[in-house]
Amino acid sequence: MKIAKTLRVFALALLAAVLTTSCSIEQVKDDGKIAIDNIMTRTSIRSFTDRAVSADTIEMLLRAGMSAPTAVNKQPWHFVVITDRAVMDSLGGNGRQSQMWKESPLAIAVCGDMDKALEGPAQAFWIQDCSAATENILLAAHALGLGAVWTGCYPMVERMTNVSQVLNLPDNLVPLCVIVMGYPNESPEPKDKWKPENVTYNKFE
Ligand SMILES: Cc1cc2nc3c(=O)[nH]c(=O)nc-3n(C[C@H](O)[C@H](O)[C@H](O)COP(=O)(O)O)c2cc1C
Repeated sequence: MKIAKTLRVFALALLAAVLTTSCSIEQVKDDGKIAIDNIMTRTSIRSFTDRAVSADTIEMLLRAGMSAPTAVNKQPWHFVVITDRAVMDSLGGNGRQSQMWKESPLAIAVCGDMDKALEGPAQAFWIQDCSAATENILLAAHALGLGAVWTGCYPMVERMTNVSQVLNLPDNLVPLCVIVMGYPNESPEPKDKWKPENVTYNKFE
């Protein structure tokens, strides 16, 4: 009798363990779908409402950026958070895209820090490191309901000079890009970029 009760308790515990495991696997699958959907639905946003972005949200974006992989884990970057209207307008200037800058409540300049970068030919890995951080920030922004667009600086000397001057960057910081952000005031369809002809398996014949 006692053995039967022990067996029943053991069987129930086993069932609970199996159910818990399968539930958590299902959960991971769902999280995976959400992550993939976030990647596939991100698209550049260039018009913003006047809603401010909270300090907590800004920190989340920066944490996402700093989670990126970097060569030899050097993390050769510095992020300049821009919320000041006058600084933002100066960055936007009077060019073709100045309206987008006038609307945006937040921008993050992603800079390579040459004092933290690898030496020799490997120094150029900072570009890939900072690009990975930039994409992480774009994806985090999308997941948080923000819209964002990558505006390139490096290697365009004129843009780099302008951003360096406006942000008063020291010589060791090279601006890769400025991510212009805010809550979206437009909802463009994400572009379908799937082109099988851009893929080769194994060797070219
Ligand atoms: C290196 C780089 C530089 C870019 N510079 C600009 C820019 O100066 N202004 C702009 O509006 N978009 C810029 N973009 C955004 C691209 O135009 C955009 O990603 C591309 O058209 C694909 O559209 P999607 O982001 O909606 O998929 C840049 C993107 C990259 C990766």
